[in-house]
Amino acid sequence: MNEKVIIFDTTLRDGEQSPGASMNAGEKMRLAIQLEKLGVDVLEAGFPAASEGDFEAVAQVAGVVKNIEVAALARTHKDDIDRAWAAIRHAKNPRIHTFIATSDIHMNYKLKMNREQVVKTAFETVKYAKSLTDSIEFSAEDGSRSDRDFLCRVFEAAIEAGATTLNLPDTVGYAIPQEFGDLVKYVMAHTSNIHKAVLSVHCHNDLGLATANTIAAIYAGARQAEVTINGIGERAGNTSLEEVVMALHTRPNFFPVYTNIKTEHIYPTSRLVSMITGIMVQPNKAIVGANAFAHEAGIHQDGMLKNPMTYEIMKPETIGLSTSKLVLGKHSGRHALRSHLKELGYDLSDEELKLVFKKFKELADKKKHVLDEDLEVIVTEGILRTAEVFNLEYLHVSSGTTVKPTATVKLKINEKSFEGSGYGNGPIDATYNVIAKLTGSKSELLRFSVSAISGGTDAQGEVTVRLKENGLIALGRGTDPDIITASAKAYINGLNRLEYLKANPIETSEVI
Ligand code: KIV
Ligand code: ZN
Repeated sequence: MNEKVIIFDTTLRDGEQSPGASMNAGEKMRLAIQLEKLGVDVLEAGFPAASEGDFEAVAQVAGVVKNIEVAALARTHKDDIDRAWAAIRHAKNPRIHTFIATSDIHMNYKLKMNREQVVKTAFETVKYAKSLTDSIEFSAEDGSRSDRDFLCRVFEAAIEAGATTLNLPDTVGYAIPQEFGDLVKYVMAHTSNIHKAVLSVHCHNDLGLATANTIAAIYAGARQAEVTINGIGERAGNTSLEEVVMALHTRPNFFPVYTNIKTEHIYPTSRLVSMITGIMVQPNKAIVGANAFAHEAGIHQDGMLKNPMTYEIMKPETIGLSTSKLVLGKHSGRHALRSHLKELGYDLSDEELKLVFKKFKELADKKKHVLDEDLEVIVTEGILRTAEVFNLEYLHVSSGTTVKPTATVKLKINEKSFEGSGYGNGPIDATYNVIAKLTGSKSELLRFSVSAISGGTDAQGEVTVRLKENGLIALGRGTDPDIITASAKAYINGLNRLEYLKANPIETSEVI
């Protein structure tokens, strides 16, 4: 019988470590609900000892997730374990995930600990965590660059202390698939009690090999894959969930394994992650990129018409890419909107529906056809971005070939309205100058990009910005049929995220 590969999603923890990808508690909850619907087995909600905000978000996620395991990360410190446990203790299925580095370079320079001390610490911490709950994961940070026999020794000690999952991370994305597969086989053959635990892998994408390494590890016998949606994560990111799942799904004869992922929820989940984090997916990204199912060459199109299997190894519907996207127009009622949102996975309260309906009508007045993508934007911007410091109330710009670009902006800042006007090199520059003046922001604009979220001249413009202030980096995202308004929204969203980061500083000094 085929064996199951456990899908451990760390979008909310390692994914959130992508530069600028911080999410507030409401956004994390929304994503957690979607990940449960997608069918992940374990959801790593965060690192509670890192900040008060992270602790709260993990506790809230633990409260909403019903059937899957909720993991909280902790260093091998008693205080971290206590914090992690306090955040997830009310979850239906809690998991404590603790880690310590096992490579010589990390032990000598970062931890300043010798091998004996690391083994002892791993053993004692896992034992302590086990006194709190049953499901304990232990990770050997920088495992792929660790001495193989020492790695097995640490794993043995962790299993003896009660660990139920052993995770082997390629923390710095250094491994090569064949070598990583061999390492998995070695660990399985030389860790005497490995049969009492599940062997997991966690790969980073510094050489673009995270998915290949994870697949090689599964082929060699690993039975848990740690992944993120769209592959977001520290530096070049983590292994992408959709790539691993669809590789296993598309090549069943090659891999005698299965996952619980409901593949038709992959695309909506990918969109949600992009919208929440502001990190757009590259067009040529496997599975979820805009071009992943687009056939441009004439020969390919001809083949596709004759038989789609000539050039398509997966069906777009399998990952939830709908072909008929036209949904609602200005005459659609509240009932139709509610039931369509339900189909998209948004089960809104009456209050939330009222707000979304109002925004939907405003958009339908400007744009003939409201598409799924538009609705997703309304829900994310309208529901998930509540309780923000800065809100756009009004924007007027004047520009053209013979006038100096001018902007007038009214912002609500902590519930009080402020208005100002100013000039700039163009209408967006003028708008940004006024917003900076009204908010007193000293942030630097590192990146600004505009795209359209669907086809046609009435498409909504989607703007993303990257802001930096005092070493903090935040991404902002805004959409609107008017790209100047979309730009203003993106800037304000970025400023709100900076405020969130200032209020929730990461307290730990250890880099993970
Ligand atoms: O990359 C890594 O080593 C990690 C561990 C904490 C699992 O994220
Ligand atoms: Zn990692």
